[in-house]
Amino acid sequence: MKILVTGTDGYIGVQLGPYLVQRGHDVVGLDTGFYRDRPLYDAGLPDLTVLRKDVRHIVETDLRGFDAVVHLAELSNDPLGQLNPALTFRINHAASVRLATLARAAGVERFVYASSCSVYGVGSEEFKTEASPVSPQTAYAECKALVERDVGALAGPNFHPTFLRNSTAFGASPSMRFDIVLNNLAGHAWTSRTIAMSSDGTPWRPLVHILDIAEAVACVLSAPVEAVSGEVFNVGDESQNYRVREVAEVVAAAFPGCAVTFGPSGGDNRSYRVSFEKIRRHLPSFACRHDAAAGARELRSVFERIGLTRATFEGRPYTRLRQLEHLLATGQLDADLFWIRD
Ligand SMILES: NC(=O)c1ccc[n+]([C@@H]2O[C@H](COP(=O)([O-])OP(=O)(O)OC[C@H]3O[C@@H](n4cnc5c(N)ncnc54)[C@H](O)[C@@H]3O)[C@@H](O)[C@H]2O)c1
Repeated sequence: MKILVTGTDGYIGVQLGPYLVQRGHDVVGLDTGFYRDRPLYDAGLPDLTVLRKDVRHIVETDLRGFDAVVHLAELSNDPLGQLNPALTFRINHAASVRLATLARAAGVERFVYASSCSVYGVGSEEFKTEASPVSPQTAYAECKALVERDVGALAGPNFHPTFLRNSTAFGASPSMRFDIVLNNLAGHAWTSRTIAMSSDGTPWRPLVHILDIAEAVACVLSAPVEAVSGEVFNVGDESQNYRVREVAEVVAAAFPGCAVTFGPSGGDNRSYRVSFEKIRRHLPSFACRHDAAAGARELRSVFERIGLTRATFEGRPYTRLRQLEHLLATGQLDADLFWIRD
């Protein structure tokens, strides 16, 4: 299958592109390159052909000849989405719907969208299924729900969109992110031998390894269209619905000598547990192969190998908001996040 993957310089995309190549696909990447400088390490991944282009500038001819588009390229978390919510809607919602519309017009049959379990927002003790009402709390999460609605409406006999509501990701990637919970705690454990939680860590967070996200995408692409067309899937595994304090404990166990402390309750109220029964039913070959403990051990071995320092852990490219603020402050990006000079 010939596949265009957007966001191939990013945390997930840099692993997903080569993963699909290994599965025998012909993959072309597309990325504007916000985080292209300074990979955390060389993973020896094969180089892809990557179009240096903003998704807002894609035209129909860019999409001709592809069998599938896998769309990851967005402002990829809540704090980034809050930087300029109107711009978040233009990139994450409008540009994603436009991309899908162009893909359909260009004859692309499959469209896989990286949605997020953050659409569930504030939860309670029950498990969220794909049929549960969504309750997005931020511009980022609201855009995910709007793209699902509007691209879902484009589904038809020749266009099969699928929406993967990924749990919060973890795991090692050259295009590392330290602004997500497990990776962040592991960085603290390695650089300071301490995990000092400001909260009591009781909220629930479903987690998933980036290679398991890649596997879910691969399974969708190879599934019969009847199983995936217009469908929404939570991506993860029930056993990986963790309380944040459990994540801290699992990480501490992988970094000997690391102490964990907790703060008072309250603060961040995002908390949800998720059911993954539907993805198992529709995609029987899908299974998560990496749990949080394995992810923490994987990160420790990368940190050991590269001698991760606190300065690197706190470095700009690995905290998305900081990198974009730097590119704006230094006049490399304009206020709409277009490169001023390429
Ligand atoms: N990482 C997670 O925990 C997680 C969880 C659920 C869903 N997702 C979704 O998966 C996708 C990928 O996440 P990630 O963690 O790899 O994010 P990331 O920020 O590491 O990567 C996003 C990539 O998209 C590119 N990009 C952003 N805006 C662009 C634009 N306008 N035009 C072209 N390229 C653009 C960036 O340069 C970057 O390389 C995102 O849509 C994100 O919302 C991620």
